[in-house]
Amino acid sequence: MNAPADPSITADVSDEQRISDEERLFDELIANEQRIEPRDWMPEAYRKTLIRQISQHAHSEIIGMQPEGNWITRAPSLKRKAILMAKVQDEAGHGLYLYSAAQTLGITRDEMMQQLIDGRAKYSSIFNYPTPTWADMGAIGWLVDGAAICNQVPLCRASYGPYGRAMVRVCKEESFHQRQGFEILLTLMQGTEEQRRMAQDAVDRWYWPSLAMFGPPDDRSPNSAQSMAWKIKRFSNDELRQRFVGMLVPQAEILGVTLPDPELRFDEASGRYEMGEIDWDEFFEVLRGNGPCNTERLERRRTAHEDGAWVREAAAEYARRQASASALDEEVA
Ligand SMILES: [Fe+2]
Ligand SMILES: [Fe+2]
Repeated sequence: MNAPADPSITADVSDEQRISDEERLFDELIANEQRIEPRDWMPEAYRKTLIRQISQHAHSEIIGMQPEGNWITRAPSLKRKAILMAKVQDEAGHGLYLYSAAQTLGITRDEMMQQLIDGRAKYSSIFNYPTPTWADMGAIGWLVDGAAICNQVPLCRASYGPYGRAMVRVCKEESFHQRQGFEILLTLMQGTEEQRRMAQDAVDRWYWPSLAMFGPPDDRSPNSAQSMAWKIKRFSNDELRQRFVGMLVPQAEILGVTLPDPELRFDEASGRYEMGEIDWDEFFEVLRGNGPCNTERLERRRTAHEDGAWVREAAAEYARRQASASALDEEVA
């Protein structure tokens, strides 16, 4: 057993000294690629950054269920319907792991949900685009889940333990999502002329928004450097975009689709892809709430939340009764 600390010694340690010791330990853990866990000391800015990032990520998973949920009743076969349902359900699960990870930082699920339905929280802009055809299910899986994988694989090594661990499972599922999207597009591209046109049209509409998912170029992304110093983020936005395009190019060839960027080419000298300019004005417009489906997505989320109130109340009441029943059992024993 450890001897109890001598109060005359600890009393001499000033608050300032203790904070700088804690800060040193935090810096050491980060430098040594070790993980920060919920009970560890962390700088307030690190905590706030993580709450913002993880809750935005959770909201994206949950809102991201809507564009695809839109096609569950109209999937072209029972097999496609079962696959799509499983995929949309996975996204709900991702949201739940991520809300749980954010809760370990001291924010409640209710607060996060309220921020989302009040329109105060952000989520990935890509989910504000519509899904008018079945080929959109293919393009979302291939491009949006594909971009999510590129973004999220490095997050498995994020310095905050609960976030990194949640990402490991999420990434396994995202990889299934990307393959199912690719397979939908491949089937369409091997079909009729009309099906091929539908697949190409969906790729044309989702390609640029999927590139924008990595965020603004490095010289316009002021928070990236701090996130990289804290080892939350491991690669810059532009590096991740390069990786993503590098993954897409050979897959587009197999599919027989054209990536809608006439300027896209591999530059042997620099070993990088050169690409056309992303329309950042459009990106920021959608982010500000003016995309084609922002209002509809939030409205649907708000209604679902209100309609689900009785479920939350019933679950809380059940938990309360279980707790008082087990307290009673303990007393009897
Ligand atoms: Fe997901
Ligand atoms: Fe996904």
